[in-house]
Amino acid sequence: MTTRRLVLSRGAAIVGAASTGLLLPGIVRAQSSRIRVGFMLPYTGTYSQLGVAIENGVRMAIAEQGGKLGGREIEWFKLDDESEPSKGVENANRLVQRDKVDVLIGTVHSGVQMGIQRVARETGVLNLIPNAGAHAATRALCAPNVFRTSFTNSQPTLALGKPMMDRGLKKTVWITWKYAAGDEAFEGFRDSYTKAGGTIVKELGLPFPNVEFQALLTEIASLRPDAVACFFAGGAAAKFIRDYAAAGLKDKIPLWGSGFLTEGVLEAAGPAAEGIMTTMHYADSLDTPRNHQFRTAYATQFKMQPDVYAVQGYDTGLLLAQGAAAVKGDMGNKQALYHALETQTIDSPRGKWSMSKAHNPIQDIYLRRVENKDNKVIGIAAKALSDSGAGCKLGAA
Ligand code: BEZ
Repeated sequence: MTTRRLVLSRGAAIVGAASTGLLLPGIVRAQSSRIRVGFMLPYTGTYSQLGVAIENGVRMAIAEQGGKLGGREIEWFKLDDESEPSKGVENANRLVQRDKVDVLIGTVHSGVQMGIQRVARETGVLNLIPNAGAHAATRALCAPNVFRTSFTNSQPTLALGKPMMDRGLKKTVWITWKYAAGDEAFEGFRDSYTKAGGTIVKELGLPFPNVEFQALLTEIASLRPDAVACFFAGGAAAKFIRDYAAAGLKDKIPLWGSGFLTEGVLEAAGPAAEGIMTTMHYADSLDTPRNHQFRTAYATQFKMQPDVYAVQGYDTGLLLAQGAAAVKGDMGNKQALYHALETQTIDSPRGKWSMSKAHNPIQDIYLRRVENKDNKVIGIAAKALSDSGAGCKLGAA
């Protein structure tokens, strides 16, 4: 409500001033000046590689579209949010108030996103979320100026329960970091697994970004479940995979997870990762011309293999470029810009996707297995999966 009022009153002020001729030179200057794009991402800590991959993806997509947004040059800003929720509001305000960005691209960590969400709702700045899956961002706290190009935390795990039960894995231990991403990934797992008839033997957790897994792995060994399912991501995911194998569990209790477990970590995890099963909105081995072209271009440009974070960044760049083109670079024309962003189809390496009414991707979720350091696609675990968007009033008649 606050956001809508702010956005509309800003628009009305501009129209009023322009009709008197007072603001015209300013508007002309603004139109020809550069669009200010700010990255608020983790560049240090366990999620640092995720931030880098996202930025690479954004820059690559925009470069492929000619390096401009709606015909206007870009001025880039960068801020390391350290995956630190307590600094979320302050950091977002730095980009919005101090650097006066037109677009804030961020972030990765769900807790930090809550700070960005507050600033986006209060200021009306356009926020594109390239990863953080916090439910609230596209549910109760959704906003006309906030768009997500990634997933909600429960989207991948809503597709996890059935394939596990199909393989006779009837009793599972769940383990995760105890913060929104892990808790909401659990919600998706619990709903899909219990619906398919599975029993969750125990929920285990540790605080983010703690990596002292040993005591919990000992407990898992004594519980002797049919399988373990989890949410971990970033550098710590590689350590969890290695520790799981080192504890002697790899060949005894199959490891499953939300696909972040095996994204961007397969080199670091080594043989311990082979055979892990996950569900995710992307798979390295998707056999489409679009994915092949993307993977080749990314590997050539950045001398590393892309992962789901690179894809999400790439799609963020595509969405921004397509939206800006639709309004010919007039980012102040909020109504037309938001309409354009809401109605784009994104021709992604993950497969084409569109926005839900709550501004979250409607997308296929793939079942994957790690084979030879690749997330190999086994099949589609859920077709065109949309988040519930519960509590979001956008697009309501
Ligand atoms: C999150 O905090 O929302 C998140 C972080 C890394 C991977 C997936 C989700």
